[in-house]
Amino acid sequence: MKVTVVGAGAVGASCAEYIAIKNFASEVVILDIKENFAEGKAMDLMQTASLNGFDTKITGSTNDYSKTAGSDIAVITSGIPRKPGMTREELIGINAGIVKEVSSNLIKHSPDVTIIVVSNPMDTMTYLVHKTTGLPKNKIIGMGGALDSARFKYRLAEALEAPASDIDGMVIGGHSDTGMVPLTRLATRNSVPVSKFISEDRLNQVSEDTKVGGATLTKMLGTSAWYAPGAAVSGLVQAIACDQKKMFPCSALLEGEYGLDDLCIGVPVILGKDGIEKIVELELDDAEKSKLKESAEGVKKTNGLLEL
Ligand code: 2OP
Repeated sequence: MKVTVVGAGAVGASCAEYIAIKNFASEVVILDIKENFAEGKAMDLMQTASLNGFDTKITGSTNDYSKTAGSDIAVITSGIPRKPGMTREELIGINAGIVKEVSSNLIKHSPDVTIIVVSNPMDTMTYLVHKTTGLPKNKIIGMGGALDSARFKYRLAEALEAPASDIDGMVIGGHSDTGMVPLTRLATRNSVPVSKFISEDRLNQVSEDTKVGGATLTKMLGTSAWYAPGAAVSGLVQAIACDQKKMFPCSALLEGEYGLDDLCIGVPVILGKDGIEKIVELELDDAEKSKLKESAEGVKKTNGLLEL
């Protein structure tokens, strides 16, 4: 199993590290345009192999896509991260050109690759990869909901004073500060609805804190977060690589599902060896449907900024 991670920045390197430690990939190639940067990150990570007990071979490349040839899965993290006070959508001007070039280069050397998009604005970048590569729609996945759901579960665990392992919850919709739809109605603590433990007001606060989870960290760190994004995308890679049939909220191209068409947005999908193997249509209530529709309108507005 060969995995390529494009972008040796904090998110890409964290993703590569988590993939290596999980030890399901034979090879991880990290690629970056900065001279020797990916090679350095790869060497540093390989020097943890005896410490972290993995056999995965991690190599780095300075913009030589021939080194990525034959990749089964490729993760696109390249592009600029946001600064405090920026929205993800403001990154489109620079990141669209980068993602277009990267995805074209990837499929030249790995025509059957499954691509996972992390670069922001992620839903629009995922849509751009569809338009650029022409890969089958099940082989293009946007990572946002897995991260947002992890933040949702973190906030729920905090509110319930419970371990995160007791909590289940999902965020659908656009990966944006205003477009996320935390499904508070369906969230549980060990199969018991969380509304049994906390008030509606507190649950609403959890929902609001979840939506700005990324922006909160960007303010604290001066740049985008990387541990949770890296961990989230490594979980999607593992589900595909190991054919786990796991369900995650991912940005998927919709063609009528949820009453939406011609956009990529976060919905529950089953991930396995063929990438998105099924889009799961939940029974949403009227409020959830309305929020998802509004979120989709926001994603389509950003898509409209693309020069396709
Ligand atoms: C985040 O929310 C980078 O969009 C990513 O942290």
